[in-house]
Amino acid sequence: MFVLAIETSCDDTGAAVLLNGRRILSNVVSSQVSVHQKYGGVVPELASRKHIEMIVPIVTEALEEAGIRLKEIHGIAVTQGPGLVGSLLVGLSFAKSLALAARLPFVGVNHIEAHLSAIFLEEEPPRFPFIGLVVSGGHTSLFRMDGFGKLKRLGQTRDDAAGEAFDKVAKLLGLGYPGGPIIDQLSMTSSTKPIRFPRACLGKGSFDFSFSGVKTAVVNFVKAHPWSPEGLSEEMVRNIVAGFQEAVVDVLVKKTIQAAQHEGLKRVVVSGGVAANRLLRWRMAEEASQKKMRVYIPSPIFCTDNAAMVGVVGYEYLKRGMRAPLSLNAFSNLPL
Ligand code: KG4
Ligand code: ZN
Repeated sequence: MFVLAIETSCDDTGAAVLLNGRRILSNVVSSQVSVHQKYGGVVPELASRKHIEMIVPIVTEALEEAGIRLKEIHGIAVTQGPGLVGSLLVGLSFAKSLALAARLPFVGVNHIEAHLSAIFLEEEPPRFPFIGLVVSGGHTSLFRMDGFGKLKRLGQTRDDAAGEAFDKVAKLLGLGYPGGPIIDQLSMTSSTKPIRFPRACLGKGSFDFSFSGVKTAVVNFVKAHPWSPEGLSEEMVRNIVAGFQEAVVDVLVKKTIQAAQHEGLKRVVVSGGVAANRLLRWRMAEEASQKKMRVYIPSPIFCTDNAAMVGVVGYEYLKRGMRAPLSLNAFSNLPL
């Protein structure tokens, strides 16, 4: 079964063609980083406007690259939420129009389920059930996943998403956007003395997260050490970002492992943009192997927003005979 998948939940316009939900024939992503860079974060209205420009060329490119004509496609999968509603509506309206014009079935896909399902694009995916950590610019949540469509949320962030905290700290220090990869890189070149910042545990047994405290601690630290005429020394900036990264990664790793122990599971999947972080990948693997668990993390191109991961879930739903009505709406807080 050939599935055309479309993803426009945030600031990347993505389209992919998959064979039987696993084999990628094309996976095209147009990044909007250059549009949002100067604002230090995604500007929702600009994101929707860019999607409306890019959606037709990106879908056309995905079909061409796959060497598949529209009439050979069996169904369409599109992200329905959560995300920025203006962005979601562009992809959803386009998918509906295409489904109507080409008389194709289509299904809406939850973006979070798609992130966790990106691991099925890899050679050796895990068996169900597993613990899933979705950690990106918009989300930080822990799940137990028992199958497609069978997810139980165990915890989530009460304020900032982890990636959002990376982006805000980088902006504060004038390092650029998006902050995650920059902080990841700077911390690698560091740093004999990372600054110790607080970790929010939120009570015993809680699988919720909070990252606004560590972000505020960085703000206060910078205020307490006023900019010298030359600015903060490079060494000091490295110590700050390395300390911040350690604080965030510590909590992510600890809670994920605890959730796996709590649910009696030995398999852990980590996905979303922040899963590209090298310290997180390394620490998660290390902790898990000590506890005789196995960690599965998709390659970085499948961790960040892309349409192939939407196609994985869409295929499973279409195969089961699920069909969305042409009245399907987009929701910024679509529940699982
Ligand atoms: O999944 P994604 O592409 O989009 C959302 O759905 O949010 O994630 C983007 C986020 C940004 O906040 C970015 O700073 C963060 O992922 N990110 C990283 C790294 N690469 C991307 N954070 C930490 N370390 C990285 N290497
Ligand atoms: Zn995402």
